[in-house]
Amino acid sequence: MGVMIEVLFSALWLMLPAYVANPMAVVFGGGRPIDLGRNFLDGRRLLGDGKTYRGLLGGLLCGVFIGFVQMNTLLSYYLGAHTLSVVCTLSIGALMGDLFESFIKRRLGLQRGAELPLADQLDFVAGAFLLTYLLEPLWFTANFTPVKLLIVLVTTPILHRITNIIGYRMKLKKEPW
Ligand code: CTP
Ligand code: MG
Repeated sequence: MGVMIEVLFSALWLMLPAYVANPMAVVFGGGRPIDLGRNFLDGRRLLGDGKTYRGLLGGLLCGVFIGFVQMNTLLSYYLGAHTLSVVCTLSIGALMGDLFESFIKRRLGLQRGAELPLADQLDFVAGAFLLTYLLEPLWFTANFTPVKLLIVLVTTPILHRITNIIGYRMKLKKEPW
């Protein structure tokens, strides 16, 4: 039992920079859209008004900040030690995964804010995993064991749902997903 809880907390701990970067993009978002209002070849928006520079920067700074704090606490000794590089790949990867999903949603003809189940919840996880695996493969395989990967994939949609309902009630988000 104790071991299982430790593995669960370790998985969430390792992912924390991504878990912070993603919602902080919502908190800080607004203003100039990243695609500057431009369309893709299909005549639809490249990313849409829901992906902004402010969101990107706010998410990145918060994700890196929390990761930096984690690196300097004793908990990192028990739950997993990030490196500065990994803190960056987790944060940037999360934000890139979210951007990529919006790019795909626009290509599917979905308006900004339209729901795309599972992709909405796991886009940033996929981005964080992929970028970290590509740039820090040794750290990734040593820390994200198969069990922890599975824990992240299963718990994230639940955590995401709860966070977004809170964000919706706080009027930070227009939709509760
Ligand atoms: N946001 C932002 N910049 C980002 C990510 C998010 O400004 N890089 C803000 C936007 O205000 C956005 C809100 O956070 O509307 C919610 O994010 P998300 O659900 O990812 O975007 P949607 O508006 O649902 O747009 P999409 O359909 O493209 O997912
Ligand atoms: Mg959305």
